[in-house]
Amino acid sequence: MTMQDYHEFLKEILIDGKTLQKRISELGVEISRDYKERDLHLICILRGGVLFLADLIRHITIPHTMDFMAVSSYGSGARQSTGHIRITYDLQSAIEDREVLLVEDIVDSGYTIASVLEMLEIRRPRSLRVCALLNKAERREVMVPIDYCGFTIPDKFVFGYGLDMDEYYRNLPFIGTVDLSRYQSPS
Ligand code: IMP
Ligand code: MG
Repeated sequence: MTMQDYHEFLKEILIDGKTLQKRISELGVEISRDYKERDLHLICILRGGVLFLADLIRHITIPHTMDFMAVSSYGSGARQSTGHIRITYDLQSAIEDREVLLVEDIVDSGYTIASVLEMLEIRRPRSLRVCALLNKAERREVMVPIDYCGFTIPDKFVFGYGLDMDEYYRNLPFIGTVDLSRYQSPS
């Protein structure tokens, strides 16, 4: 299988690498200040959040730990959440009494984060907050708190910097929008 070169369907670079890195460093500083002496525990939602997490922690100057979890929506299309989420890869350590900060790539309808918050709240963390790189605010269907937000973006499908098109192109250092008429989905 040969994947297309992304230049063939990239409509525009919405957020370039330099702008991303600058904002992420600001978030790191803010988080370091807010969680000073609080034993911060980051939880990254796989797979989209990994690039964001990796760059964010380089700007977090306080001691912290991290863990990972993956979720998937039941029987939905790849680009639309349904509101029914299940854990496909669970945390490796307990979060009871921990100061948890979720690190997510994008909040779109809000269903994913809302379900994750609900599932984690049951485990009784001391605190549970959300850090999302991107916020597609216009698309929100369920209200979710975003305590740390990188960028609010318009209602456009984006890829790069952790976000995928059919699981590819996550490595790109920028956030781009897609011209769907020129994108060939792998079969
Ligand atoms: P939500 O449940 O609708 O908020 O969707 C959240 C999840 O959908 C994210 O974690 C992403 O994996 C995916 N997603 C939403 N919008 C986009 C996009 O524009 N590009 C790539 N993935 C997206
Ligand atoms: Mg995805």
